[in-house]
Amino acid sequence: MAKVKTTFFCQNCGAQSAQWMGKCKACSKWNTIVEEVVSKTQKDRAWKTDSTQKTNIAQSIQEISLEIEPRIDTSNKELDRVLGGGIVPGSLVLLGGEPGIGKSTLLLQVALRLQHKVLYVTGEESDKQIRMRAERLGLKESPCHILTETNTQNIFQQVVSVQPDLLVVDSIQTLQTDTIDSSPGSISQIRECTAELMKFAKESGTPVLLIGHINKDGHIAGPKILEHMVDVVLQFEGERNHVYRILRANKNRFGSTAEIGIYEMQSQGLREVSNPSEILISQKDEALSGVAISATIEGVRPLMIETQALVSSAVYGTPQRSATGFDLRRLSMLLAVLEKRCGFKLGAKDVFLNITGGIKVDDPAIDLGVVCAILSSNVDMAIDDKSCFAAEVGLSGEIRPVNRCEQRIQEAEKLGFERIFISKYNKVNPQDYNIQVVTVGKMEEVFKALFAS
Ligand code: TYD
Ligand code: MG
Repeated sequence: MAKVKTTFFCQNCGAQSAQWMGKCKACSKWNTIVEEVVSKTQKDRAWKTDSTQKTNIAQSIQEISLEIEPRIDTSNKELDRVLGGGIVPGSLVLLGGEPGIGKSTLLLQVALRLQHKVLYVTGEESDKQIRMRAERLGLKESPCHILTETNTQNIFQQVVSVQPDLLVVDSIQTLQTDTIDSSPGSISQIRECTAELMKFAKESGTPVLLIGHINKDGHIAGPKILEHMVDVVLQFEGERNHVYRILRANKNRFGSTAEIGIYEMQSQGLREVSNPSEILISQKDEALSGVAISATIEGVRPLMIETQALVSSAVYGTPQRSATGFDLRRLSMLLAVLEKRCGFKLGAKDVFLNITGGIKVDDPAIDLGVVCAILSSNVDMAIDDKSCFAAEVGLSGEIRPVNRCEQRIQEAEKLGFERIFISKYNKVNPQDYNIQVVTVGKMEEVFKALFAS
């Protein structure tokens, strides 16, 4: 019987070693080394080119042809924007996200709406399930082909007969190639299958969209090298129980990584949200305490975000602090600033903070809005709903300037706000805007303006 050859791979970084170790030498993670079977005879890769191997020669940069092939317009504006203006021919795009977030829905929707011929390969669902989902998404005449297959050899056979303009693979973790004997989803399988797909994409000029699972840390499952191999890494995120989803590019060889796309999950699939600010602010008839609106920037898009805070006397000895969509440590810092610099006694109070819409905010410009929401709840006085905030709060209680202040003011003005609080260190001319721009330097000035009248 032929001897089975095995090698040990780190499930975190993909490093290879001859023996099992408790700790990976490459990335210093514990208990990540797993034994995988690799075939003794390295067979040919599944994707073969007709042309015989040609050697490339060095040429001066001016000589290289500038002819740019047009990008494929997916007619999904949010996706196109995140990709930097459509899908680049021959590119390999990886879409990662938590289970059930809508990765398959997004790509099936793109595949069905596209006027080009798409081959949608799935190893996760049956063709009936895909058909049913397509019905829900409003299936019309579409040149889309569905293939339920996990073996790359068979996939490439079908690719040759269907000749698609775009290949979608759901998901890379279910694929397996005959050249390697280990089970699907293992490091060596993922690496080899991606390499085959990459070779196919580059040689045929057909773009490939891959779906990737993520592990519990939020990283794409599989070796880190997977992210190096592909041209674009997209991340689909959002709270599963909320309807809004954000698509962002973590890596993009053909465009900026600052763009984001926003979708709403509906019963007929994902709807593109072109004006996100309107949906993130809850509609209400009466002014409520503990609510403040901030002009933040996500990527390059200005977004008006509502922060809700609830401050109440602690029932138990240790006061609770909880934040949804906002960094808890930053909340503790802001509470300490309020306590120490501004004299508000919040040490014995429970503080709950929630960013509405189920999104996560990293932009420091939300600080002032958070602080005002907390104080509004603390004194139980509502902030008028025509005011908004855009400033960072420093450790000594000073109001710090934020970047792209003009853009934030314009967004607030566009959405009908009448007053925006910014730092006095932001060099803007209040006369340039129809909205009242209030420049403040200290927390006290903000409180006076909000609650003293
Ligand atoms: P799915 O695309 O299967 O997620 P993933 O591939 O990322 O695991 O999305 C599944 C979720 O989307 C499921 O919980 C139900 C929801 N959904 C809708 O709300 N409306 C729809 O039209 C579809 C197709 C799915
Ligand atoms: Mg899926």
